[in-house]
Amino acid sequence: MADSLSNKKRGGFTGRMGFILAAAGSAIGLGNVWKFPFEVADGGGAAFLFMYLIFCFVFCLPIMVSEISIGRAAQRDAVSAFETGKKSWNVVGKLGVLSAVLVLSFYNIVAGWALGYVVEILMGNFSIGEEFGTYINDIAKISLYAGIFMLLTAYTVSKGISKGIERLSKVLMPLLLSLMVILILYGFFLPHAGAGLKYYLIPNFANISLEVIYNAMGQAFFSLSLGLGAMITYGSYLPKNENIVHASAFVVLADVGIAFLAGLMIFPFVAHLNAGDMSDISGGAGLIFVTLPGGFESLGPGIGLVVGSLFFLLLSFAALTSTVSLLEIPVAYAVDKLSISRKAVVWFLGLFVFLLGIPSLLSQGDSAFLSACLSYLNSSESRSFMDIIEHISSDTFLPLGGFGIVLYVLFGWRKKRFHAELSQGYPNYVGSIWQRYLDFSLAYLCPVILSLMVLLTILDRFIGINVLKILTDAL
Ligand code: PHE
Repeated sequence: MADSLSNKKRGGFTGRMGFILAAAGSAIGLGNVWKFPFEVADGGGAAFLFMYLIFCFVFCLPIMVSEISIGRAAQRDAVSAFETGKKSWNVVGKLGVLSAVLVLSFYNIVAGWALGYVVEILMGNFSIGEEFGTYINDIAKISLYAGIFMLLTAYTVSKGISKGIERLSKVLMPLLLSLMVILILYGFFLPHAGAGLKYYLIPNFANISLEVIYNAMGQAFFSLSLGLGAMITYGSYLPKNENIVHASAFVVLADVGIAFLAGLMIFPFVAHLNAGDMSDISGGAGLIFVTLPGGFESLGPGIGLVVGSLFFLLLSFAALTSTVSLLEIPVAYAVDKLSISRKAVVWFLGLFVFLLGIPSLLSQGDSAFLSACLSYLNSSESRSFMDIIEHISSDTFLPLGGFGIVLYVLFGWRKKRFHAELSQGYPNYVGSIWQRYLDFSLAYLCPVILSLMVLLTILDRFIGINVLKILTDAL
């Protein structure tokens, strides 16, 4: 009785579209626009894309389906959802909540950088790219932008699922896609655009190494927001008559599609800036925050201002629909477990996670200690606080959580209940080709891939043994 009452109070998505947009909004984030294009370029262009797609469908989709069904079956937060069988399984959920808090603490800082760029470029400050190092160490400024970002996130989450998260996603996701299409079309007509597209898209199989394959796995997993209960939490608000398999496939396609479009959008600008010479461009964080502002400036002051600020606005939108999903994980846990009001929990947790991000903020150079606080075993390279949190949470805990989720489906929750949940909204699920494929992947592929990922990450990040490089050198 108490449960059904609290379920009514929990609220939920109004239907399929709201859920899909919110889940896609969680998946589509900084990972897609910031990281993906360069991983494609570094990893052999279209060859990487192909591999990435395979990973998304072969092992990420089954985990997404599992997460959403675990959540929907329980109609509870990401920790209680594991308590259907033996209670001890909930340690998987607890790890997820911890990961969500850690990931959000640094993700919010990077989102703050992006938001600040909108303002800087609107003020005509195109040299912000060259000043990036100074900018991210302007503690007052970044605290302000990251603070505003957390306020927006907390405000949305405080409004609940349908009036907060769903409404935001329904506005921002179409806006994100439209802005992207406009920037892509604009970029296509820039001089040297062709060189950029060629660089992005022509496959170069020679660039595919074991490390590139490992990166594609990690990127696929993070980009789909898996392993920390985001999809369990969103799934718990999904109506029973919706088809989980189809909704998941749609979310995966949307995530991959937007990541692909991000590359189409970015590389023509980069090529234009370098007059078509793509031999020497910097990757990673630098591409977006250091290189691109110069590309926008070269369009001319007026149009550069519009295109540049729209670009960073788009990046901030993508990040916002991800940060709300991260905050919702611990919020749902606290609301369901402690039965305290959503608003109180949201503002408390928002403040807590913001403060937790401060050491990451200071670890970009401002604090000498935090910027180089530890070097791992066997490595002389010192790591910043932000690096360490990222290595622990997104690199290690996420695949570990994913492994836990798969084990739970196989041995805790078990196939019968998993099938029964999926059959709701998909009456012919049992016996379908989807069922055979998902069962096979969950029983054989996912455990192997995820345990390998955890092992390789721990050896590489914390012990300094890069197994993949050793193997490549030996071959
Ligand atoms: N998927 C988001 C991105 O690509 C990040 C994220 C990870 C969001 C995990 C929620 C949970 O940026």
